[in-house]
Amino acid sequence: MITEKRIDGAIRRLFSEITFPDEPAGLYDPLRYMISIGGKRIRPRLCLTAWAMFKDRITPRLLDVAAALEVFHTFTLLHDDIMDRSPLRRGQATVWKKWNEDTAILSGDVMQIDAYKRIAKAPSDKLEAVLGLFSKTAAEVCEGQQFDMEFESLSEVSMDDYCKMIGLKTAVLLACSAKMGAVLAGATEKQSQALYDYGYKLGMAFQVADDYLDAFGDEKVFGKPIGGDIVNCKKSWLTVRSCEKLTGRSKAAFLKRFNEVVPEEENKCKIADIKKIYIDNGVDEDARAEVRRFTQEALEAAGRLRLNAVRAEALRRFAENLVGRAK
Ligand code: IPE
Ligand code: IPE
Ligand code: MG
Ligand code: MG
Ligand code: MG
Repeated sequence: MITEKRIDGAIRRLFSEITFPDEPAGLYDPLRYMISIGGKRIRPRLCLTAWAMFKDRITPRLLDVAAALEVFHTFTLLHDDIMDRSPLRRGQATVWKKWNEDTAILSGDVMQIDAYKRIAKAPSDKLEAVLGLFSKTAAEVCEGQQFDMEFESLSEVSMDDYCKMIGLKTAVLLACSAKMGAVLAGATEKQSQALYDYGYKLGMAFQVADDYLDAFGDEKVFGKPIGGDIVNCKKSWLTVRSCEKLTGRSKAAFLKRFNEVVPEEENKCKIADIKKIYIDNGVDEDARAEVRRFTQEALEAAGRLRLNAVRAEALRRFAENLVGRAK
């Protein structure tokens, strides 16, 4: 079986050797910058891990698709950081901060096109399935991002609506990454669907963990500003759960403070107030439990594959690494 170490090596090589056109540098430098500052690269890793459930050798065409998944993800970050007004990504200045918003928009556009060029290199007998899955996923990510933004100006969001939103903005891309590996490897429809479901649940766990770390992470490790969701009135898992737990006056006071847009110099105070409410009500603990619950559901979906022990262990380890993340 293709080991985790082999997958790590292949991913490292893939992104150290990846190239983009030289000119105009103002358009392509942000692409080089974002790829060179790294990131966890979990989507291409998930694609290769799913492929490894069926195949014993990594092929160049598989790597093209894996690269497309990461390039597409990175494009969504370029635009997301403008939308979320975020100055820091992967421990470095975001593209809109380092260059400007116009650059982040246009470099993001060309990055998405670059992802499509790489996807189009999939073997011709798989191309229709691969392109269909990729395009459907890409549209869903936009839908999720739209809901995410619309929720900023709603006073309250239900857990169902929140889950639908993160399912679209985050989970479908992990689901697509896992299924892509299966489809390319010639898996059956049932096997591909089981891996899609595994990736989807991992994606749900991943976004709840991201919401948790946005409030309770360590900025140096997380690589993003702490408290950005609170400042932007983002309806994170923590917010939605707080609304479920609080009642009467305490709920009204929480919502009033949370939905308040404060002058920049008061952000720190707003973040501290909201975090205190989360902690006092055990919402931080709840979030950690929810991450474990989604991860468990991911492993149940993987169980439908009836894999041998070594392969099942690879999917279990992948999930464990995600749950334990601090960045
Ligand atoms: C960030 O994704 C966006 C979310 C879906 C939470 P990652 O946490 O995978 O970001 P990088 O690629 O490792 O920087
Ligand atoms: C990420 O949501 C979703 C996409 C980028 C599509 P966030 O806005 O929470 O991601 P971060 O926290 O900026 O990485
Ligand atoms: Mg966002
Ligand atoms: Mg963001
Ligand atoms: Mg976030």
